[in-house]
Formats: sequence, structure tokens, C-alpha cells
Amino acid sequence: MIRSKIAGIGHYVPEKAVSNNDLAGVMDTSDEWIQERTGIKERRYGKKHKETTSTMGARAAEIAIQRAGIEKEDVDFIIFATLSPDYYFPGCGVLMQRELGITKTEIGALDIRNQCSGFVYGLSIADQFIKSGMYKNILLVGAEMHSMGLEYSTKGRNVTVIFGDGAGAAIIQPTEEADKGVLTTKLHSDGTYAEKLAFINPGSHGGYHFDKMGEEIDFGYPDQEFGGIFITQQMIDNDMHYPNMEGQFVFKLAVQKFPEVIMEALNETGLQPSDINMLVPHQANLRISQFVQKRMGLRDDQVWNNIQKYGNTTAASIPIALCEAWEAGKVKDGDLVCLAAFGSGFTWGSALIRW
Ligand code: UT7
Repeated sequence: MIRSKIAGIGHYVPEKAVSNNDLAGVMDTSDEWIQERTGIKERRYGKKHKETTSTMGARAAEIAIQRAGIEKEDVDFIIFATLSPDYYFPGCGVLMQRELGITKTEIGALDIRNQCSGFVYGLSIADQFIKSGMYKNILLVGAEMHSMGLEYSTKGRNVTVIFGDGAGAAIIQPTEEADKGVLTTKLHSDGTYAEKLAFINPGSHGGYHFDKMGEEIDFGYPDQEFGGIFITQQMIDNDMHYPNMEGQFVFKLAVQKFPEVIMEALNETGLQPSDINMLVPHQANLRISQFVQKRMGLRDDQVWNNIQKYGNTTAASIPIALCEAWEAGKVKDGDLVCLAAFGSGFTWGSALIRW
């Protein structure tokens, strides 16, 4: 039976560390508040005009490719997960392909939009392609350059203090080793509360969803017969072009869905929480991870957290954390690794991997 395995993993975080006190210099917040509510001490910001989501993805990819013992030209498919793409279109997959210099092979590149669960969704897609025999060396990347699109003011503080930049990558290959590789992936979504954690503008919505919800929001669309516009002056003047989040609402659902989707994967494979050697949860908030750990009855050494150093790097958070855990020797041959994510959409998912 062919399964897929992670043959190489890499991560990249930009050099510039931004402390909570640095942010307190531009908005009404404090190191104490941020650490107490989120566990975050600092985050990294990419170099403006020099780094982008796709270039950071490429740096992580180079390491994963080298660790998998393959050449760039051996990559036969790209899956790129991000919510902070370089361009509205084309996606980061092709930009990273160009940055890596592997355009001659003309391989396919797929961009996915699943926010915090992007890496888990991407792994599930890669898993299906590998199992079907279609591809042999899939490059899966999660990367974010949040720092270019955050609101650096007191109004945006609940979102801005949480997010950071970075990238993680994995090479997914087939394996015939018994009981090794991706055992299962579980994917879910519920669009009911799509706007509770969202980056609405620019977009093609034209106010539709808000009208339907009975929320009268003036986006400043010009009154014209043909054509529309993704972003208006009014959106910019009124700071409507930033992400927003109802933190407590998201928190409550997250602590419910994380354990649920982890248990779903365990139940399907006949395993128990105690069988998990390393749980790598999406790094949304240290309090969420601690809650999940407690609920699952896991010890400290069974859960990897690094949000303290990087903040929430959305699609990059799982591969960065997984890579660090592997580099630290905490993910070893034969270990049962569980990945789990929850975020905007809402989308959530889990994966169980026998390393
Ligand atoms: O990865 C995607 C998924 N995202 C998540 O899972 C995030 C889930 N939610 C959270 O992590 C938390 O809800 C937050 C960290 C975002 C916020 O923590 P909270 O304990 O839920 O705070 P809150 O939103 O209830 O706000 C409490 C107070 C408010 O002030 P008042 O109304 O009580 O006077 C906020 O205005 O804290 C204020 N506040 C801040 N104060 C200082 C909000 N953000 C900040 C800030 N610094 N950065």
C-alpha cells in the first residue's frame, strides 16, 4: 500500500524580531497584556520591499528540498498555502516557482486559501495526489507576510499584536514502508461565521453579504452601470482594508474544534491521545494550545509550542513548529505526530503521521 510521507522539512523566519514593547510604541498595548492573553513575546517581520510571502516560501523550500535529498528539478507539483499573497493574482505558487528557478520543468502549481488550516489542507491534497500515483515529489509550502497588511494603531491592536511573518515547507513523497507516513487527514469547514475573522477589502463582494445579514455598511462603491471596484477611497479613509477578528468568538470555537478534530483522526485509526508523541497545533494563541493539551490529557513534552517567538504565522505556523520540533530531535523515526488547525472560514482539520 502506498502512503505519503514527509521526506524533508524546512522553515525560514525573517531576521527582524519585533518585541511587544516595540508595538507598544505605536499603539495602546503592553508586553504584559500580550503575554498574558496570548503567550507571545515577539514576532518576526519580513524585510519590506526585499522579502515577500513567496520569497520566504522559497527559502523554506530550499531547505526542505535539500533535506529530502532531491534536486529542485525533481519537484513535480507545488501546493502553496497563504492568506497574505504577494499579488491578488497570480498566486504565490508560480512566484515561488520562479524564485526557485524551476520554471523549465513546467510543473503545476496550486494555491490554496484555507488560512490557519492551509498546511493541513495542503497536506491532505498532497496525500491524495501521492496515493493516486500522480506525483512523487510534491513541494508543500505555508508562508505569510502579515506585517505588510496589519493596522498599526490602537484600533487594530487585537489583531496586529498576534500575527508574525515566516514560512515552512515540506517535500511529500510516496512510501511503501509498512505503517509509515500520513495515516489520515480530516478536513472541515463552516462558512456561517465567515466574517468573524476576515480580511474583507479589497474584494468583489460589493456589499452583498452584509446586505444579506442586514448590516448596513457603506463601502463607498461608485454609482455606475458597468464594472465595479475592489477597493474604494472610502474603504481606505475609514480603515476598512485591514483584517478584523472577534477574538473571543474565535477562541471559544477553537477550543471546541481542536480536540474534536484530533479525536476524529485518532478514532479512525484506533489510536488514543496517549499514543501521540508530538502534537503540533496551529500556533493561534498559547492559551488555546494549553487548553487543548489539558483537554486531551497530554504532557508538556507531547505538545510543541513556539508562538512565544513568532506569534501566529497562520499557514506557516504548523510547518515552522514541526520543523523546529524535528530539528530539536523531538520528532523521531516511528513517532506518531498529530497536526491540528483551526482558523478563519471557519476551516479546521487534523493529520496523523507515523514519522
Ligand atoms: O489563528 C486564527 C485563529 N485566531 C484565534 O484563534 C484567536 C482567538 N482569540 C484570541 O486569541 C483572543 O481572543 C485575543 C488574544 C485576540 C484577545 O484576547 P481576549 O482575552 O479575548 O481579549 P478581548 O478581545 O476580550 O479584549 C479584552 C480587552 C478589551 O478592552 P475592554 O473592552 O475590556 O476595555 C480590548 O479592547 O482587551 C483590550 N485589548 C487590548 N488591550 C491591550 C484588545 N487587544 C489589546 C491589546 N493590548 N493588544
